[in-house]
Amino acid sequence: MSANGKLLILSGDGIGPEVVRQVRRVIDWLARRRGVSFDVAEGLVGGAAIDADGVPLTDATLARAQEADAVLLGAVGGPKWDKIDFDRRPEAGLLRLRKDLGLFANLRPAMVMDALIDASPLKADIVRGLDIMIVRELTGGVYFGEPRGIRDLGDGVRQGLNTQVYTTPEIVRVAKVAFDLARQRKNSVCSVEKANVMESGRLWREEVTRLHAEEYSDVELSHMYADNCAMQLVRNPRQFDVIVTDNLFGDMLSDEAAMLTGSLGMLPSASLGQPDANGRRKALYEPVHGSAPDIAGRDVANPVAMLLSFTMMLRYSFGLNGEAEMIEQSIQKVLNGGMRTADVMAPGMARCSTTVMGDAILRALDKLHATTLAAA
Ligand code: IPM
Ligand code: MG
Repeated sequence: MSANGKLLILSGDGIGPEVVRQVRRVIDWLARRRGVSFDVAEGLVGGAAIDADGVPLTDATLARAQEADAVLLGAVGGPKWDKIDFDRRPEAGLLRLRKDLGLFANLRPAMVMDALIDASPLKADIVRGLDIMIVRELTGGVYFGEPRGIRDLGDGVRQGLNTQVYTTPEIVRVAKVAFDLARQRKNSVCSVEKANVMESGRLWREEVTRLHAEEYSDVELSHMYADNCAMQLVRNPRQFDVIVTDNLFGDMLSDEAAMLTGSLGMLPSASLGQPDANGRRKALYEPVHGSAPDIAGRDVANPVAMLLSFTMMLRYSFGLNGEAEMIEQSIQKVLNGGMRTADVMAPGMARCSTTVMGDAILRALDKLHATTLAAA
């Protein structure tokens, strides 16, 4: 059986390895039952890489990530490495992957499944049927802008400095991703910045407006200040379809949107680069949640965000929409059946571990597969 593609799996730290384990089981299932196989390699990132190699991402691992068709990442970070210098911390490994692979478009969907509607801290009426896509710029802005640093101004005064900077091409390429996605959804984009205060925000608004007029006038476009967007997300989140915003605002707004769904443990993400001449683009898939050191190693983490990151990979990197659909349906079935990991536990539901959730999803996949065979 020839492999469908080359995957690099970087489980990272904390609950990363536990949730990735459930993906490995689904990968095995796909090979066994669907004849879909991947060439899978594993590597280290974050604290795990610091412990083994002294750096959060080695050049060798980066090179393997460059060659892979897709990278699957668990999570990075933890208290063990909190005192390390900034540029050698676990997070630096992740930021280097994003930057050096050119993964400028970060897709963070936030969907409320009916089965989990009570897990949302908002009233059911406000979030029922919620389906937003946040497109976060991921390789620019204040995360990478120069100059940066902490410097001594003398007389005991220090200065912390970061630079928020965007250029036309950086804005245009990520806005295109947002408009293209909107066309496959509800055809509406809300572009978010602080054009009332920041020049980078003013440029952002001008460039998005121009691109819209030139190439995407069929898509509905609105603009919103980031603070207002934060408020609108809890007031009336269903007004949004696709939100496109910069690196820092995207970081914050995506955490907020994630919580609308009840748990960070449910939300996947995809980070995509520019397509090459053959239409292939570098890609990294990771859950929105972090390494959750407080629950790591206890087999209680929710594997759904990681599994949904994997289904995003099947769709965006390999066009395996049927397989992605099967896995998503299986997850839905298991949740409808009342099984819940601790993070989304509710009265009357059955609390289960990471592994037992994985077992149930595999059983649901088996069933679904059997019915498709019977129908064929
Ligand atoms: C995220 C995280 C990262 C970020 C951290 C871990 C560097 O919060 O992916 O949202 O700030 O981008
Ligand atoms: Mg974040």
